[in-house]
Amino acid sequence: MYCETDDELVELVERARKYTEDGKVADYIPALGRAEKCDLSIALYYTDGRCFKAGDVDKLFTLQSVSKVLALALAIMDNGEEEVFRKVGMEPTGDPFNSIAKLESQVPAKPLNPMINAGALVVSNMIEGRSTHDKLGRFLTLIHDLTNNTSIDVDHEVSDSEFETAHLNRALCYYMKQHGLITGDVEDLIDLYTRQCAIKVSCLDLARIGMVLANKGRDPETNRMIIPEGIATLVKTFMVTCGMYNASGEFAIRVGIPAKSGVSGGIIGLVPPSMGIGVYGPALNEKGNSIAGVKLLEMLSQRYELSIF
Ligand code: DON
Repeated sequence: MYCETDDELVELVERARKYTEDGKVADYIPALGRAEKCDLSIALYYTDGRCFKAGDVDKLFTLQSVSKVLALALAIMDNGEEEVFRKVGMEPTGDPFNSIAKLESQVPAKPLNPMINAGALVVSNMIEGRSTHDKLGRFLTLIHDLTNNTSIDVDHEVSDSEFETAHLNRALCYYMKQHGLITGDVEDLIDLYTRQCAIKVSCLDLARIGMVLANKGRDPETNRMIIPEGIATLVKTFMVTCGMYNASGEFAIRVGIPAKSGVSGGIIGLVPPSMGIGVYGPALNEKGNSIAGVKLLEMLSQRYELSIF
């Protein structure tokens, strides 16, 4: 069963919007605190080029942790699977996304997975490039290719705001540098990571990225392979097991699609083989996922029987 009109989505958005009242906009990055709590939007993008949208679809927001999926794909393209997973694990965690606790208790000391901050910092450290500018440029090129939107860029106000306040991420980096998981200058890595998180997109951009992943990494409009199929499969699997942080299990049961959230309120989702989904709703629940966005995806999944299980 497929969605075939914007109106079907409008109805779902308006039903889900009331949940925004129970959420809270992230403000630990001061620039994110200015988002409108009641915003909610969704876009669907199919491999045949059809798109459907509803809600505040013109609002742009930063990728935040959604970037972790794409940074992982790029780091594996650059270094190979074996090298990346020598430094980061493949297991979900019940801890919050920025927790340092497991780093000390794991043997060998490596982050549990690439979707938590510790793992994502190791992954960003493995992106090839002569300078931060170079590495960020390569990451942006990947996003331009996936979205077919070359106007996408970093929101410097958000990246500067996070750079000033990212002391927990600095702590994770120094701990991992001591254990040989991170090389080079920590400030340079925080600079790259905060800019990668501050790339500004719309929910239609997210939906198009999801659609390319659903289509095994190939852009159906150009027939170009943007992410090799094996790597696309790997990142989609991480989205299922770890994409919604320590709510990934419940999300798999209630929604049943690969997805990844970020603290700006963005969620990327996909339904193989033909549909990408982008959601934006900055009011978050206690686990850091968009409160109304998750409800909206739950309604969408039930209405159109989207669960991959
Ligand atoms: O590392 C951070 O704090 C952010 N820039 C990204 C975190 C994030 O989106 C976690 N999401 N739920």
